[in-house]
Amino acid sequence: MKSASEPIYRRQIAKIILGLLFVGSVAEATPFKSSKIAITAACPYAVAAGQRIAEKGGNAVDVALTVLLTEAVTNPSFASLGGGGFAMVKIPSKNIKNGSGGVETLDFREVAPGATDEKYYLNKAKDASMKGGTAVGVPGLPAGIWELHKKYGKLHWSELFTIPIQLADKGFRVTGGWYDDTIQGSKRFDDQSKLIFMRNGEPLKPGTLLVQKRLAKALNLLRNRTATAFYKGQIAQDIVKTVVARGGHMTLKDLAAYKPVWRDPLKMTYGGRTIYLMPPPSSGGVVIYEALSMIEKMKVKDKAPLSVDELHLLGEISKRAFRTRSLLGDPDFVTNPLDKILSDAFISEQVKTISADKVTDLPPLADEKASKESAQTSHISVLTATGEAVSMTFTLNSNYGSGVTTDEFGIALNNEMDDFTTRPGEANQFGLVQGANNNVKAGKRPLSSMSPSFAERNGQVDLVAGAPGGPRIITAVLNILYRSITTGVDIDRAIQMPRVHHQYLPNKLYVDADYRFAPETIAGLKKKGHEVEESWMGLGYAIQLKDGLLEAAFDSRGDGAAAGF
Ligand code: DON
Repeated sequence: MKSASEPIYRRQIAKIILGLLFVGSVAEATPFKSSKIAITAACPYAVAAGQRIAEKGGNAVDVALTVLLTEAVTNPSFASLGGGGFAMVKIPSKNIKNGSGGVETLDFREVAPGATDEKYYLNKAKDASMKGGTAVGVPGLPAGIWELHKKYGKLHWSELFTIPIQLADKGFRVTGGWYDDTIQGSKRFDDQSKLIFMRNGEPLKPGTLLVQKRLAKALNLLRNRTATAFYKGQIAQDIVKTVVARGGHMTLKDLAAYKPVWRDPLKMTYGGRTIYLMPPPSSGGVVIYEALSMIEKMKVKDKAPLSVDELHLLGEISKRAFRTRSLLGDPDFVTNPLDKILSDAFISEQVKTISADKVTDLPPLADEKASKESAQTSHISVLTATGEAVSMTFTLNSNYGSGVTTDEFGIALNNEMDDFTTRPGEANQFGLVQGANNNVKAGKRPLSSMSPSFAERNGQVDLVAGAPGGPRIITAVLNILYRSITTGVDIDRAIQMPRVHHQYLPNKLYVDADYRFAPETIAGLKKKGHEVEESWMGLGYAIQLKDGLLEAAFDSRGDGAAAGF
């Protein structure tokens, strides 16, 4: 996560890169405004590539997939083919022949290899779920993007690869953000990662050309043979050989068996809009659903924005909503008590335990105890005036995931296994203590916090939001929805406004760092009994349709670009 002092620099860089490479536009004042399509994501090269595809007549799915494939080249710390994620999509039926016309979500989350079970990590090194071959889940990203394109793509699949392959083959100049991410990820690097991303024991310096010929070869195979090229054949063999050589237990059978899953979104009414949220195996939708319901019941909007009273309630609500996270897991393996925790009765009970004056604590719902982070994920939002919308969050979990990069094709591999309850009662890298429903099991997906989301009015998606940031994703998206829908601030303001984050355990109120809050506000929160700690926050990428214009914005806390026409 980046400091708040860099956004202007980053925005300028975005403008310069786009200006040099493409005839496109990028945010000069925020939010960026356009009338036909808006795109926002972390990487300027990728947003520009997405704009190119839109100019060629690609739909929102073609655009989002091109952004993602470009980031798989330019941002291997979070967007590698060796990761996974979730997408929320709506392509109105008038725009496509075989789509449902409704809102759908695609789960292309990694799964646990066949050789793993709930005891897998107990007799291994403490960092076995974070680093090396034992940390790697079976990647879902190539299957996910192929599935999305098969169902919704408009342009030919091969067109999405032109810019990414060119950037891999001829190279691109790494940025300051890339350098920072690589410093963090290098703590776990194997020799192959060091060979590709470092020189003389240091990440490539900003401005250095990074050429990835072997990755270009993998992308060419994917372009010519679709996802099959990844899950069967040379790339699959490369992954298995590399993971095994680094101490893991993935097999060719694990890769061949991988399947993405279409899932119905969670749906709720809030502030006169229909909100669509990501269901399990993400916990994001469930927690946001509960929190928005409590916000409404407690009439939080009557409190002055960013006052101690408002922030206190938001913290207490976030704590209660996160408390139920420990009950959740992969719905294909466990039963999630959604009927209970999303019920009006349960929400009302939670609300009754909140005092406007002081902090009140509740006992855990599952076996838990309390715990630092260094992680990477990213998000792409696309919205068109004709109602096409894509919200897609994807990750390797930590920066460069497990630190393992494959020997033949140079593909960085995730450490998503650390999102399981690997050691009951112990906190993971995000301080999350998880429940039994999230135990490791062969073929199972680890619980996630990724929260691609939509809001819809009169049948048209008018808000697309999402964020990276581990559990802080949830409070980032919650705040964007709450601020923009309830208080009506523009989408840029909704993203940049200071946030608080509470995830139940550890029992702390995390507040936005870098002096975003006045000392008086912090003192007021402490007076109400909060243990306050300054912290990084999730990075929002969101687009809103307002008064006939598309408005896109990204978070000044990190990298970003917005474009469209
Ligand atoms: O799925 C999850 O919840 C995590 N693996 C996401 C990690 C993340 O967002 C890290 N980014 N800052």
